[in-house]
Amino acid sequence: MRNFCIISHIDHGKSTLADRFLELGSDIDKKKLKNQFLDSMTLEKEKGITIKMHPVRLNYKGQALNLIDTPGHIDFSYEISRALACCEGAVLLVDATKGIQAQTVFNLEHAKKQGLKVIGVVNKVDAASVSQVSSTKKELAAILKTDDILEISGKTGYNVEVLLEKVIKEIPSAEEKKGDFQGLIFDSKYDSFSGVIAFLRVFSGELKKGDKTFFVFQNQFSEAKEVGFFYPELRETNQLRSSEIGYIKTGIKDPSLVKVGDTITKGEKKGLKGYKEPESVLFLSLYPSHADDFALLKDALNKLKLNDPALNFQIESQMALGRGFRIGFLGSLHAEITIRRLKLESNLDLIATSPQVVFEIEKKNGKVLSLSSPALWPPSVEISETREPWVEIEIITPNHYFNNVFKLLKKFSCFLKETKTLTKEKSLLICEGPLREIISGSFYDNLKSLSQGYASFSFKQKEYRESDLVKVDILIAGNKEEALSRILPKEKAFLLSKELLLKLKNVLPQQQFSVSLQASVEGKIIARETKKAARKDVTAPLYGGDVTRKRKLLERQKKGKKELKEKGKVNIPSQVFLDILKT
Ligand code: GTP
Repeated sequence: MRNFCIISHIDHGKSTLADRFLELGSDIDKKKLKNQFLDSMTLEKEKGITIKMHPVRLNYKGQALNLIDTPGHIDFSYEISRALACCEGAVLLVDATKGIQAQTVFNLEHAKKQGLKVIGVVNKVDAASVSQVSSTKKELAAILKTDDILEISGKTGYNVEVLLEKVIKEIPSAEEKKGDFQGLIFDSKYDSFSGVIAFLRVFSGELKKGDKTFFVFQNQFSEAKEVGFFYPELRETNQLRSSEIGYIKTGIKDPSLVKVGDTITKGEKKGLKGYKEPESVLFLSLYPSHADDFALLKDALNKLKLNDPALNFQIESQMALGRGFRIGFLGSLHAEITIRRLKLESNLDLIATSPQVVFEIEKKNGKVLSLSSPALWPPSVEISETREPWVEIEIITPNHYFNNVFKLLKKFSCFLKETKTLTKEKSLLICEGPLREIISGSFYDNLKSLSQGYASFSFKQKEYRESDLVKVDILIAGNKEEALSRILPKEKAFLLSKELLLKLKNVLPQQQFSVSLQASVEGKIIARETKKAARKDVTAPLYGGDVTRKRKLLERQKKGKKELKEKGKVNIPSQVFLDILKT
């Protein structure tokens, strides 16, 4: 038996290679094998990216091969680290037309830290020139410190069987350990019929259907209702044995009782080390549009947490918005995907507040606050200093995009610290910048477009640094919209608020009266826009040109609009908050 995963930078072809592996080692009907078959979630199909790791058991020439396909985007790196912890080896895939990119290096470092055997593979050779293949091989050879690099095409299947043979030959088979049963939960999901289904890597012993189970961290007893493997659909088997990857139907209906990283044993025994908790870098609050849906949102989040352990949330309440949740994410794509999953999987109508990083405030009374919610921001008279988190950014770029990258760094208030030569054509730029700037999603989009997809970045958190920050409130028709308040650097407050108001003007549905949109800092208006009233031609039904009658109708319309405006609560659909979130 071999346990291995495929890792790479985003879009280098992991799921397509997994398709070829499935053709060779699974009994799925070939007609049903659609492209990127393992990306089974609706959002994965729609966005063309992998969001979740996907385990599948293959049988190839008498060998059981447990493969885990992983995501490539940095926001889903927690999925990759958990997949790596289940495996003895990894296939590191590099797109021949792109060469090594930031996540290639980032994922390789993680695989090495976990002691995995790494097989270097250059992919998409069908689409690359001879020189691209050769330079990518050189780059990969340099970071892997070996010349043993295989060329394949996941699309045409070229050399894919050779790769599978290499996996069997070079990746050590998992060590079988007798003794007490110990299985590490690396993932889980909720099924309305079976309750929580825990995905396990077994490290010792064996488990059968009907065996008593104990969840060490949660201190919870249960019984294995069913055990089995992923093909990739769940298929029952007699027992799960040491070194295997499989699932257990726990029968537990309360999702909060099962935790990814927990160990399942057969009695009150010691647990395995588990996983390091991921650190959220971005926070926002979600409120149900209808107060009655709070319990539904709570249940949906608990179920989602089973399948996305990087989610981190706690109850929060705000005067204007009622009861909701403050949620921590690993990045803006993670936040966007989570909100879409909640809407899609639980049919919830949600209001989302502005995403923020965690700021530090030193108050005049000496107290230091860490906060990410604008609602808790104290008045400026109480503040002696404000600070924000900084990150070290590693950008890998072909040298001829240098100028563009420098412009980008300036635009996002980042600066270059050091340049390292990777190859003749490619460099590693080590930079620093505020987390707030690079997490917004537009840093990533800008970097991609200015380099035609060739430059890429990863980052790690550093310390907090002083920054002049203010809380900006947004008023719609004079009413403060708590969900739209945000914390911004003072020198960018006007520009960013103007951008937000323009976006709001675009997405807010037209009302019967004109609506003022304002941004204010401590009661002082710093920017404003107006959403014009919907125009209805009240004179259209009139036949002929009776001027007095026309004027009368227009006067009446004007008066009606004025009255509406005075009563004027603007109805803001929840979609507006989600559209604004994307700015
Ligand atoms: P993420 O999981 O989102 O990181 O993507 P991935 O690494 O799984 O890449 P995926 O398999 O989704 O492929 C990305 C794109 O590359 C798709 O358009 C594939 O059709 C294409 N692709 C993958 N492998 C090959 C290949 O060998 N040759 C060519 N020409 N295209 C390929």
